[in-house]
Amino acid sequence: MENKSTKADILVVDDSPAIRKSLINLLEPLDVNIVEAENGKIGLNLAGNHNFDVIISDIDMPVMDGIEFCRELKNRPETRGIPVIVVSAFDSEEDVNKGFQAGAADYLSKDHAKEQLCDKVKEVMKKAGFQRRQVIMVVDDSETIRHVVQNGLEKNGYQTITAENGQQAMDLLKNIKPDLILSDIDMPVMNGFRFREIVRSKHEFSDIPFIVMSANSDRGSMKRMLKYGASAYICKPFNIDQLVIMVEKTLSDQFLMLFHEKERLMSERNLMVASITSLVTALEARDAYTKGHSEAVGKIVSGMLALSGADRIEIENGLLGGRLHDIGKIGITDSILFKEGRLTKEEFHKIKMHPVIGAGILEPIPSLHNIVDMVKHHHERMDGAGYPDGLKGSKIPLWARMTAVADTFHALTSDRPYRKACCRENALHMIEKEKGRQLCPDCVSLFLQYIEKNSSESDTGRKEK
Ligand SMILES: [Fe+2]
Repeated sequence: MENKSTKADILVVDDSPAIRKSLINLLEPLDVNIVEAENGKIGLNLAGNHNFDVIISDIDMPVMDGIEFCRELKNRPETRGIPVIVVSAFDSEEDVNKGFQAGAADYLSKDHAKEQLCDKVKEVMKKAGFQRRQVIMVVDDSETIRHVVQNGLEKNGYQTITAENGQQAMDLLKNIKPDLILSDIDMPVMNGFRFREIVRSKHEFSDIPFIVMSANSDRGSMKRMLKYGASAYICKPFNIDQLVIMVEKTLSDQFLMLFHEKERLMSERNLMVASITSLVTALEARDAYTKGHSEAVGKIVSGMLALSGADRIEIENGLLGGRLHDIGKIGITDSILFKEGRLTKEEFHKIKMHPVIGAGILEPIPSLHNIVDMVKHHHERMDGAGYPDGLKGSKIPLWARMTAVADTFHALTSDRPYRKACCRENALHMIEKEKGRQLCPDCVSLFLQYIEKNSSESDTGRKEK
């Protein structure tokens, strides 16, 4: 096979040159290499010699149609892993089913290709990449079966671990969580039933798809395993290709389930974040002095996280946590929150409740779990004199320590009813002085790096203008 370039390679198979041209135009935004073929037979020869990332195929073609083409691709070890998207004018339920049975990864009607083709291609490539890194656990007391199954799976790009019985498999599960388990039923020491039962009862393993492989005479037992939550069963002796297709299908179903669950969580999170952010805006609108404070704190914390090498998700969460750090102030009455004179002891006690109220607002939202501590502890101090829990030093969650620095800096450099804003140099000096007392020394250093980077970037911007 040829060496691959960094761009993805896509094979477009259709007997109509005009349709191939229009599909190629649709794929332009993806910046991929495209090879064309006018029927399944030519496509099959090309696929055998070139490592394509995706194949897009028509169904109704002369010489070899799309269904046979798809089946042939799935029958050959060297092309089996290439995802196929069928794009066809036929889109009855029967046509779609035929496509999937032949091994297609997705099916798209020609009418919808314009809006959906690029997204489908991205989705199947992501899925194929995801599947290639997956680990399959093979549990069987027969060395021959373990060997054959392991070889077959590894030839198809999967990683494998093997065990001779349920007990050995349980020991392996202490160190590794496989993406799928293939298990025999009749084994010494711990049989498949007991093994399945334990896997199912443990929260951390219960979501691993479980395929049972056993002798034909055990059909009743296999059905019992399905009742125990096994995903599928396959009768011995089986053809290894059959098993690989079953593994692929099970993982693909699992991927789609996780994918949709992730999408659902993301949309729930976006909805929640939009409502909470509008609450923060409403909260800050009550007071001209704090307008934009939360947004600024979020920006600084996410900038500090980016400098510390955090990944994109962590940076996004930091931004969100910063934006929401004072959300609990919603539960404090205006007469206390905006009081101009000195606060009484009781009033100050109420103000000190805002981190706990904020954490209580965010806690029930699963996708915001990792920012709850940041909100709850942003007023702790390194010397333990902060609130609400008087945590000391490294006991204070890191993101809360970062928020404390950002919060202090932005408050110092903003006007307040009782004082004018400090200049930046004075604020930085005061922050330096609080190192180790109020503020975390590491977070202060990171913050100073952030300030330096940002001011040099804005200076460059100014010079360039
Ligand atoms: Fe606060």
